[in-house]
Amino acid sequence: RPRALSGIQPTAGSFHLGNYLGAIRQYVALQETHDAFYMVVDLHAMTVPQEPAQLRANTRLAAAQLLAAGLDPDRCTLFVQSHVPEHAQLGWVMNCIAGFGEASRMTQFKDKSAKQGADRATVGLFTYPILQVADILLYQADTVPVGEDQRQHIELTRDLAERFNTRFGDTFNVPAAHIVKEVAKIYDLQDPAIKMSKSASTPKGLINLLDEPKTTGKKVKSAVTDTDTVIRFDPVEKPGVSNLLTIYSTLTGTSVAELEREYEGKMYGALKTDLAEVMVEFVTPFRARTQEYLDDPETLDSVLAKGAEKARAVAAETLATAYDRVGLLPAK
Ligand code: TYM
Repeated sequence: RPRALSGIQPTAGSFHLGNYLGAIRQYVALQETHDAFYMVVDLHAMTVPQEPAQLRANTRLAAAQLLAAGLDPDRCTLFVQSHVPEHAQLGWVMNCIAGFGEASRMTQFKDKSAKQGADRATVGLFTYPILQVADILLYQADTVPVGEDQRQHIELTRDLAERFNTRFGDTFNVPAAHIVKEVAKIYDLQDPAIKMSKSASTPKGLINLLDEPKTTGKKVKSAVTDTDTVIRFDPVEKPGVSNLLTIYSTLTGTSVAELEREYEGKMYGALKTDLAEVMVEFVTPFRARTQEYLDDPETLDSVLAKGAEKARAVAAETLATAYDRVGLLPAK
């Protein structure tokens, strides 16, 4: 079986709809066809200030949500990044392969550090993409399901894998990004020019999966559209409506073309009311399942412990080879 790997940050509160449609849904699908590894990247979360107790709680919450979304510990390996020390270890090696210039060109770093100010941004934030490279290469991943905003980091992974292989001999599989075009970028409901994200403009534009379902319905109904009246998929002229159609189509499995036919001659309000209902039907059981996992921390922790053990077996082997190739003296 080809191998899939991905990571997601333990964010405060809840994952959002962009995370789910752009990435988590693909994690769930790839369990069926791939030897799949998914991790909660707590070390990456540390690149911005975290309150220790919150970080720990958010890590469990992230794992609970991944299980609630459909990850099955019998069909994939679910673990926490810091439970597998090889990530930090290979991260260092890759830090010594990556160029300062190429790291400086990472657009996510540039955006995030600009927002925080050069003095507040940490060195960890700068080397964040290189730790991500290590995450992927440790598992010899073939495919990496992510949203569009991670494309550049996967390109960096390919570049560094090839550089390492050329310099030290074939060691790493060169992975490919798995980006599903239709859902690669889900937009903010209040500002369809920007991607949905935790740092978005207003809370109204952000669908948190663990919001009160009533709140979710309201947010959908107040989504920004346009002054036209036709329900048509046209991301350039009608970004708001198109985003709603994408979300609707993905959650229901109805094609966008079919939705366009169904809503011919109808008003935006009808589309929003129906989508609000679809969304409430999706988040209500999701919330309940997440709560069940949170209510049973022993089971959750044992899933993560088994996951870490399986992950470590793979990661340790790759790290040993990489250490050997670069000339580190083995400890006897
Ligand atoms: P993170 O935690 O920011 O996001 C998790 C996943 O959600 C996707 N995503 C979106 N997709 C579509 N539309 C959106 N509006 C949207 N917002 C977020 C992201 O593309 C991502 O796939 N650096 C990574 C975590 C990471 C990782 C890895 C990923 C660490 N190591 C190894 C893959 C492989 C990140 O911060 O994702």
